[in-house]
Amino acid sequence: MNPFKKLVLIILAGEMSGGVSCRSNIGTGAGNSITLTDTLKSVLYLSPDTSEIRQSPQADLIWYGRELVANTRKYLGPAGIVAQVSNQLNCQNCHLEAGTKAAAYSVNFLGVAANYPLYRYRSGMLETIQFRINDCMMRSMNGKSLDTAGREMKAIVAYILWIGKDIPAKIKPINSQIEQLPYLQRAADTINGKKVYTAKCQLCHGVNGDGGYSVDAAIYYPPLWGAGSYNTGAGMYRLSSLAGFVKNNMPFGVNHGQSQLSNEECWDVAAFINAKPRPYKNFPGDWPDISKKAIDHPFGPYADSFSELQHKYGPFEPIAIKRKKKFN
Ligand code: HEC
Ligand code: HEC
Repeated sequence: MNPFKKLVLIILAGEMSGGVSCRSNIGTGAGNSITLTDTLKSVLYLSPDTSEIRQSPQADLIWYGRELVANTRKYLGPAGIVAQVSNQLNCQNCHLEAGTKAAAYSVNFLGVAANYPLYRYRSGMLETIQFRINDCMMRSMNGKSLDTAGREMKAIVAYILWIGKDIPAKIKPINSQIEQLPYLQRAADTINGKKVYTAKCQLCHGVNGDGGYSVDAAIYYPPLWGAGSYNTGAGMYRLSSLAGFVKNNMPFGVNHGQSQLSNEECWDVAAFINAKPRPYKNFPGDWPDISKKAIDHPFGPYADSFSELQHKYGPFEPIAIKRKKKFN
C-alpha cells in the first residue's frame, strides 16, 4: 500500500455523451473523503492530515508556516505584527484551504516538493522553492522578498514541503494546477464581465472590488482590484489564470465539476476584474526568451506583431496559431 492517500477518479470506458457526468464517490477514510463529479483521467493525491504534523521534528515550524499561509496579512500585511512587506491578501485566498484544497484545479501546494528546483520560462532559470515563494511575495502579494534565512521563509517552506512529502518525484497533481480553459473565438468582454460580477461576485467582494469582512467578521473576503490586491506582474493578472481559477473555485465553495459559470462568463469576468486599476509593477526580466512568453502576458516585447491589448484580452487563438507556425 502506498503510504499516502491516493484517489483514482473513475473514468467510464468508451464514449460518454455530452451532459452525462460520471459521479464517482471516492472515499479515503480518516475524514478525507470527497465526491467529485468528474471525467478527468487522473490520480488525485490528497494532503496529509494536519494531525500528523505533531509527529514531525519540525512541528512548530510547520505549524507556523501554515499560520503564515492562512493569515499572511496579520503577520506580513500593511499592519503586520512581524513585518510590513505584503498587501491585503493571504496566501490562502488563492491557494485555498492553506494550500490543501482537494478538488481538481485548486492551485494547492501538493506538487511543490516533488518538482522543485524547477526550470521556468518566466525567469529563464532553475528556481528554488524560496525563489518561487518570493515570486508570489513580490507579485500576488505586491510586496517584498522574504529573507531566505529568516524564520518566516523557513516556516513557509517547511509547511509546503510537508504538504507534498508523499508525492512521487516529478508528479504534478491535477489539484495543484489551474485549469487552462479553451480560448474564446473573440476578445473577452468587460461589459458582459461586469454583469457576471454583479450577479455572482459582488455580494462578497464588494461593489468596489475591495472585499472586507462578512457581517459577523467570520469570513475575510479579499480584494480583487485596487491598492490592496495583486499587482500587474502577478499570475492572476493573466486572463487565463484568473479565468481558470474562477471556473473551479468561485463563487467561494464551488469545486471542479460544479461550476456555476460558463467558460465565456469566466473569461469575461476575468477581463472585467483585470481591467480595473491595481498596483502597477512590470518585471522587464520576465521571459528572457520572448518566444516563450505567456500568450496572455499583457506586456511586450513579443516575438509576434499582435498588440499588448490583444495579448491581454484576446482573441488568443490567432496568436497561438501564429506561434505554432513560427516555432514548431
Ligand atoms: C492572488 C493570488 C495568489 C496569492 C495571494 C498567492 N499566490 Fe502563489 N500562486 C498563484 C498563482 C496564479 C500561481 C501559479 C499557478 C500555476 O500557474 O499553476 C502560484 C504559484 C505558487 C507556487 C508554485 C506552485 C507550484 O506548484 O509550482 C508557490 C510555492 C506559491 N504560489 C506560494 C505562495 C505563497 C507562499 C503565497 C503567500 C506568501 C502565495 N503564493 C500567494 C497565485 C497566488
Ligand atoms: C460567497 C462569497 C464569495 C463569492 C460570491 C465570490 N467569492 Fe471570490 N473569494 C471569496 C473568499 C472568501 C475568498 C478567499 C478564500 C479563502 O481565503 O479561503 C475568495 C477569493 C477569490 C480570489 C482570489 C483572491 C483575490 O483576491 O484575488 C479571486 C480571484 C476571486 N475570489 C474571484 C471571484 C469571482 C470572479 C467571483 C464571481 C464569479 C467570486 N470570487 C465570488 C468569497 C467569494
